[in-house]
Amino acid sequence: MYSKKIKLNNGVEIPVLGLGTWLMSKEEAYLSCLAALEMGYRHIDTAVAYGNEEAVGRAIRDSKLPREEIFVTTKVPAEAKSEKAARKEIEGSFKKLGLDYIDLVIIHCPQPWILFRKFQRRYDKANVEVYKVLEEYYRAGKIKAIGVSNFLPADLDNILNNCEVVPAVNQILAHVKNMDFETINYCREKGIIVEAYSPLGHGNSKVLKDEAIKEIANKYNVSVPQLCLRFTVELNMVTLPKSTNIAHMKSNGDLDFNISEEDMERLVKLDKIKDYGKDDWYPVFSKGK
Ligand code: A2P
Repeated sequence: MYSKKIKLNNGVEIPVLGLGTWLMSKEEAYLSCLAALEMGYRHIDTAVAYGNEEAVGRAIRDSKLPREEIFVTTKVPAEAKSEKAARKEIEGSFKKLGLDYIDLVIIHCPQPWILFRKFQRRYDKANVEVYKVLEEYYRAGKIKAIGVSNFLPADLDNILNNCEVVPAVNQILAHVKNMDFETINYCREKGIIVEAYSPLGHGNSKVLKDEAIKEIANKYNVSVPQLCLRFTVELNMVTLPKSTNIAHMKSNGDLDFNISEEDMERLVKLDKIKDYGKDDWYPVFSKGK
């Protein structure tokens, strides 16, 4: 199992590989997290919006692993855009997860999902308000690292200019067929670790059946999913594949190989998905990615 960790900007170590739990029912989340922890995963990514925090917490307890061995992330809902709402949600997460501390809590999205990427600046003040609540929990030691998700450079600037704690991470959609290098490079400049959600492109055939990716995967004698995951790992991204399938989970953790610079360049230059979000293969945002 791939067990490398990287250091966040506050010195906290985060396992590079984590299990994503978006769209998992409670039962699926419980069984998947338990299986993942048993096979060596040490990082679980959940969110209030996924509706499975309680199951994730239960799996963590039932794994019998020492708490400090597991890195747990949750997310303040995109719709919680006030101090009061943020506090309520964070307290709710503690209760549902049943944990004394949470390793990482991030703002799920700069806008409520229904307005995703619309009215870009409308929520600046609200995001600062919510982030300041995270800072308070962080200072109290209840949350070990804080950050954001789906933030663009201007959204990050708003936090950097108006808050004190530099976000430790920005969790964004990142896979071989969808790379926002402007945001990725901006995060790097500011010492913010990028976390890749949906690093397998949601398991869609546009990624997993891509001939060029297949050809490179064959060269390394690995599967296409393994190549996709190693690709984001090579880019120093925390990588969060979601799977409820034990065989997939296992092979997704088998990432001890290197992709050459030349092949990384080929992968970076692959055609990106242009109609992203416009056709039916991308799950609805209302589910709260
Ligand atoms: P499954 O749960 O059956 O494994 P992403 O993390 O990019 O959102 O992708 C998640 C999707 O990819 C899920 O539908 C998951 O299905 C599928 N998936 C995860 N790992 C693999 C794998 N190794 N091979 C094929 N599909 C996978």
